[in-house]
Amino acid sequence: MNAPIRLPARPYVDAETRPLALAVIIPTLNERDNVSPLLAALDRALAGREWEAIFVDDGSTDGTPEAIEAIALFRRDVRLIRRHGRRGLSTAIVEGMMATTAPVVASIDADMQHDEAILPRLHDAVLAGADVAVGTRYAGGGSTGDWEASRVRKSEFATRLAAIVTKTRVSDPMSGFFVVRRDAVLAAVPSMSGVGFKILLDLLASSPRPLAVAEVPYTFRPRQAGASKLDSMVALEYLLLLVDKITHGRVPARMILFLAVGAVGLVVNLFALDVLLNAAGFSFRSAQTAAVALSILFNFAINNWLTYNDRRLRGLAWLRGLATFTLICGIGAIAQVGISEMVYDERRIWWVGGLAGAAVGAVWNYAASSFVTWRRA
Ligand code: GDD
Ligand code: MN
Repeated sequence: MNAPIRLPARPYVDAETRPLALAVIIPTLNERDNVSPLLAALDRALAGREWEAIFVDDGSTDGTPEAIEAIALFRRDVRLIRRHGRRGLSTAIVEGMMATTAPVVASIDADMQHDEAILPRLHDAVLAGADVAVGTRYAGGGSTGDWEASRVRKSEFATRLAAIVTKTRVSDPMSGFFVVRRDAVLAAVPSMSGVGFKILLDLLASSPRPLAVAEVPYTFRPRQAGASKLDSMVALEYLLLLVDKITHGRVPARMILFLAVGAVGLVVNLFALDVLLNAAGFSFRSAQTAAVALSILFNFAINNWLTYNDRRLRGLAWLRGLATFTLICGIGAIAQVGISEMVYDERRIWWVGGLAGAAVGAVWNYAASSFVTWRRA
């Protein structure tokens, strides 16, 4: 059981003022029509508590920030953080949590899918000693509403995977609906990955001490207005988060993706070589030259689309990226030959030399291209 949340001695504010107790963080991406109904629902649910709403918007283009501002202009307990050049649900929520002084913070979707009526129970559970209180769709009484069977299965599978890294038994670690002590967030933030959607999982796995979890069941509602932002990238980001947590951040998730793309690129290379050499009748040299060029193009395009989907190059920048990437791969190939020769001279085992060269070449390609081709803007 945790120490109760203590407030500092009353400062110079007048005796009537009650301290802020709870900040509700609401990430938004094109949720204009949900803003006002959600605030009304929160007002009803949290009546009698000192709370504030913090919206974190990542460049919505449908007028969401304007809708929030129209209300926030009249309400000091409604705030808006506009982020620029950044995207991502997890980091949005974390930044909202860092922007408040409330001792307890909540995370809730803007689209009314999370049942705000259980917020008081979640808040009370934290006040009573839990580090985190999670709105769960799986424990007694909770439900995923009218999800189709395939989404239920996927969600259950992801939940089982999550148990590996959380070290805590949570029935719904995918939940985006929870209330947490702010000091627990502050302690975990330095080691959080911030990839993708699964902020609760990230939080549980990154905390320096195991967190005491309470659960409150609820039924996931259908979306009020607008569209879901969950796409196929989310599954990939989830996998990367797990890898990151299992390896304690020692193996960059991005490098794993890069290497996987490279492995597929090798297959492309060999396939093209086969076609050009055996079917089209090119000489070995020109067939292999074309095949290598094709695989470099393949690696660049796929890495740009997948591995660096958050820094994707477009237009002229795409061409410039292809040029630097080709150059880097060229240097990588020279290094690869050099290293494998050196190792071969030493050990006299051909495949050890080959592997050593490939490893050095791959790591070089990854490191150099992350610094040059896809450098952070
Ligand atoms: N600021 C910001 N930036 N907000 C975002 C972003 C982003 O990149 N992507 C999504 N959001 C906001 C949406 O506007 C919404 O308020 C909330 O995050 C959830 O996004 P949805 O697109 O509605 O996600 P969902 O309903 O498919 O997923 C929900 O269920 C999952 C469990 O299956 C969320 O609660 C997830 O957190 C949860 O894991
Ligand atoms: Mn939703």
